[in-house]
Amino acid sequence: MRTVLALETSCDESAAAIVAGRRVLAGAVASQMEEHARWGGVVPEIASRRHVEALPALIARVLEESGLAMADLDAVAATVAPGLAGALLVGSVTARTLARLHGKPFLGVHHLEGHLCSVHLGDPLPAGPYLVLLVSGGHTELIRVDGPGAYTRLGRSRDDAAGECFDKVARLLGLGYPGGPAIEAAAAGGDPGRFRFPKGRVSLPEGGFHPYDFSFSGLKTAVLRQVQRLAGEGAPLPVADLAASFEQGVAEVLVERSCRCAVEAGLETVVLVGGVAANRRLRRLMAEATAARGLSWRVAPLAYCTDNAAMVGLAAVERLEAGGRSGISLGVAARFPLEQAGSLYAPQPPF
Ligand code: KG4
Ligand code: ZN
Repeated sequence: MRTVLALETSCDESAAAIVAGRRVLAGAVASQMEEHARWGGVVPEIASRRHVEALPALIARVLEESGLAMADLDAVAATVAPGLAGALLVGSVTARTLARLHGKPFLGVHHLEGHLCSVHLGDPLPAGPYLVLLVSGGHTELIRVDGPGAYTRLGRSRDDAAGECFDKVARLLGLGYPGGPAIEAAAAGGDPGRFRFPKGRVSLPEGGFHPYDFSFSGLKTAVLRQVQRLAGEGAPLPVADLAASFEQGVAEVLVERSCRCAVEAGLETVVLVGGVAANRRLRRLMAEATAARGLSWRVAPLAYCTDNAAMVGLAAVERLEAGGRSGISLGVAARFPLEQAGSLYAPQPPF
């Protein structure tokens, strides 16, 4: 069994965890959300500086909680792509420094591979390949998983990610940042059927629509138009109904396309990961829709849906067990395809 210290600093969460095999021995997350909330979104320069300040205490805390010393670890890992380059660099340089100082292997981890692994921190998955709906602030993707490291993307958003759309609509409704939890709270007493928002589709050049791709920018604009129309009427804005209708629209389109994709690809399990997977309406609709089609479904445990280091540690353990380790000169990349995650462990680093 391999034990890894993992760091996650790709966006606005500084996180450290110690994972042994498939078990999380200790995990700590320092969110910077409040700081970024003032600006209505993540400010990259602030994020990097806060990571520098937060990491030493987080690392000390997980070591203490796990009762382990650096000497007990088999490797040190950090997210190296994709994300904010400056923020990634803080985690990566810290992990590489610790690895070098203590004579341990270093593993650079693909952030999305971390999200994919987060489901293994919950109930075991049924055997066989499965379809993952990865919905976060930066990504909305349908990924077929045939085994560790064997990924095929079957669908994606062509514009905004689902989480990004939650964040933008929340700002529009004056609900603050991050938008997902704010919309979910505001939607609790609202009528999800009051407003019908369009289910953005992506045209194919040969005619018709792409069956598994998403587009959320039209939905965001439709909410804006509705808000402007209602504001023009002078009545107080029905924020709860708007939030509930928006949430329903996003959840329906995510669930419909995932289920269709799973059925047509012959996959029997749909897995939900990423920050938006925390959404209860999405979970409920997914449970209902998969049951109606005879599919099974799994979701990452709530604590591991939004960014955390435990999922990064799990991905690192899997790679380490398969003989993977990264070169100490591996850098970071703001964008990098998940399908090429294996090259992070190649003798020639991709970046
Ligand atoms: O996975 P994550 O923590 O970071 C990225 O890798 O992007 O996802 C963050 C996103 C944000 O856009 C946030 O608004 C959204 O996940 N989110 C939610 C909920 N909790 C977080 N969206 C809908 N409902 C939620 N409960
Ligand atoms: Zn993420």
